Amino acid sequence: MIKYVAPSLLSADFNNLGRDIDMVNQSEADWFHLDIMDGVFVPNISFGFPVIEHIAKLARKPLDVHLMIVEPDKFLERFSDAGANILTVHWEACTHLHRTLSRIRQLGMKAGVSLNPHTPVELLDDILQVADLVLIMSVNPGFGGQKFIERSISRISRLREMIDKGGYSTLIEVDGGVGAHNAAELYAAGANVLVAGNAVFKSDDPLRTIERIKNA
Ligand code: DX5
Ligand code: ZN
Repeated sequence: MIKYVAPSLLSADFNNLGRDIDMVNQSEADWFHLDIMDGVFVPNISFGFPVIEHIAKLARKPLDVHLMIVEPDKFLERFSDAGANILTVHWEACTHLHRTLSRIRQLGMKAGVSLNPHTPVELLDDILQVADLVLIMSVNPGFGGQKFIERSISRISRLREMIDKGGYSTLIEVDGGVGAHNAAELYAAGANVLVAGNAVFKSDDPLRTIERIKNA
C-alpha cells in the first residue's frame, strides 16, 4: 500500500520560501502540495503561475497542484507549462468531468478529482476509471489550520472499498486537519497520500513531523 506525505506550501513561510522548499526536498516527503484558490470557488485567494514556476525550479519532487477554482478547463495547459505533475480539479466545479480528467492526462499529468465534505463518494462510481487520484477534503476548502471533520474517515473507507472492488489503482489523498495525531488512522482507513500544512510548517521540527506522518 502506497503511503505518501505531501506538505502543503500554503502554510510555508513565504519570506523564506526557498528555505522551506529545501526542507521538503531533504525530507521523507513525497510530493509538494500547492493550493490554488480563486476567491470564487472558495472564500480565499492564494497564489498563481509566477509562484508555481518559481517553486518548480527549486522543487526536486513532484508538484501536486490542487485547484480550488471555477472553470479549471481554461487553465489546464498553463498549469502543465508551469510545472504541475499531478493536477486535481473539484468535482463541484466541473460540468464535464470526464473530459477534464482526460485532457489533464493528455497533457501528461496525473489527473485528480477532489470532493468537498458534503459530496458523496458514491458519485465517483462512473469516473474512477479515468482518475489517478481522488482527494477527499477533510475540512471545508479555503484555509489551512482547520479542524479535521471526523466523518471523513468513513468516506475514505467507503471510497477504498469502491476502488478495490473495481480493481482500480486510483490513489486516495486526504487534505485538511491532518497531522501525526491522525495519520495512522487515515492510512488504516485506506488513504495513500496525506496532505499536511500547519502540522508540518508550524511544527518545531518539520523534518521529524514529516517522518512521523509518513511512518505512522
Ligand atoms: C485547504 C487546502 C489544504 C490546506 C491544508 O483548503 O486545500 O491543502 O493547506 O492545511 P492544514 O493541513 O493546515 O489543514
Ligand atoms: Zn489542498
